[in-house]
Amino acid sequence: MAEFSLPANSKIGKGETHKAPEGAKRVRKFQVYRWNPDDEKNPVMDTFEVDLDSCGPMVLDALIKIKNEMDASVTFRRSCREGVCGSCAMNIDGKNGLACTTAIEDCKGEVKITPLPHLEVVKDLVCDMKHFYAQYASIKPWLQTTTPVPAGKERLQSKDERAQIDGLYECILCACCSTSCPSYWWNSDKYLGPAILLQAYRWLADSRDEMTGERLDALEDPFRLYRCHTIMNCANACPKGLNPAKAIAEIKKMMLERQG
Ligand code: SF4
Ligand code: SF4
Ligand code: FES
Repeated sequence: MAEFSLPANSKIGKGETHKAPEGAKRVRKFQVYRWNPDDEKNPVMDTFEVDLDSCGPMVLDALIKIKNEMDASVTFRRSCREGVCGSCAMNIDGKNGLACTTAIEDCKGEVKITPLPHLEVVKDLVCDMKHFYAQYASIKPWLQTTTPVPAGKERLQSKDERAQIDGLYECILCACCSTSCPSYWWNSDKYLGPAILLQAYRWLADSRDEMTGERLDALEDPFRLYRCHTIMNCANACPKGLNPAKAIAEIKKMMLERQG
C-alpha cells in the first residue's frame, strides 16, 4: 500500500497516528486534514487506522467511526448520508466529491481527505460557505413573474417545457464544481463560478419565469459570467453527473441571441 507523504516544502505537517485496535485484520489508513482556529499551530494530517470489518462502506462511514471511536474533535459536515444535502463535500484522494457517496474500496492506498480547495477553512474539513451562498442569493434563485397567476390555476408547463430544467434542478449546491474550477480559485470575488451559473441558467430555462432580460442583464459582465474558459473541471467534479459548463455555454448563447 502506497505511503502517504507530504511535499518537502509543505506547511502541513504530519500529525498524530491513531492505531487500529489489536487484532484488526482489514485495516485501512485515512489521512485527515486537521486545523483548529483556536490554537496557533499550522495544519497537520492525522493518520487514522480504521478496521474496515467494523465500518460501513463509504468514506463518510469511516469519518463517523473515526469521530465516534478515535477522536471526537474531528470536525466535518454531514446530514443526509445519501447524496442529497451536499454538506459532506470534501476533497478525497485529490478529487472533490461527497463523502457519503464515495466508496472506500474505490479509493487508492491511504485515503487522503482535505477540505474543498480554495475556500477558507473554519475547522478541519469544514469550509466557510458564506461567500458561495451570497453569490447564490445574488442570482435571485426563485421564480420571478410580472403577470398575475391564472385564476384558480397554477402556472402550468408542458412536458417539453418541464424537461428544459432537467439536468439543472438536481443541483444540491455542494460546491464540488466551483472549488475545482481554476477560474473560480483565482477570481471568486467577482466570478460566480459553475455552481451558481448553473443555478442562474436553471431560472433562465424555466418557461414560467418572466425576468429573463433582467437576469441576463445581471450576468452581462466580464467577470461574473465570462471568466469561464471552458476548462471543464466542473463537469468532471459534479457528484450528481451534471454539466455546469454546458449550462454556462447556454447562457452565453442566450446573450448572443439577444444581441441579434
Ligand atoms: S468550464 Fe468554466 S466553470 Fe467549468 S471548470 Fe472550466 S472555467 Fe470553471
Ligand atoms: S453542479 Fe454538481 S458539483 Fe456543482 S454544486 Fe451542483 S451538484 Fe454540486
Ligand atoms: S451527507 Fe448529504 S450529501 Fe453527503
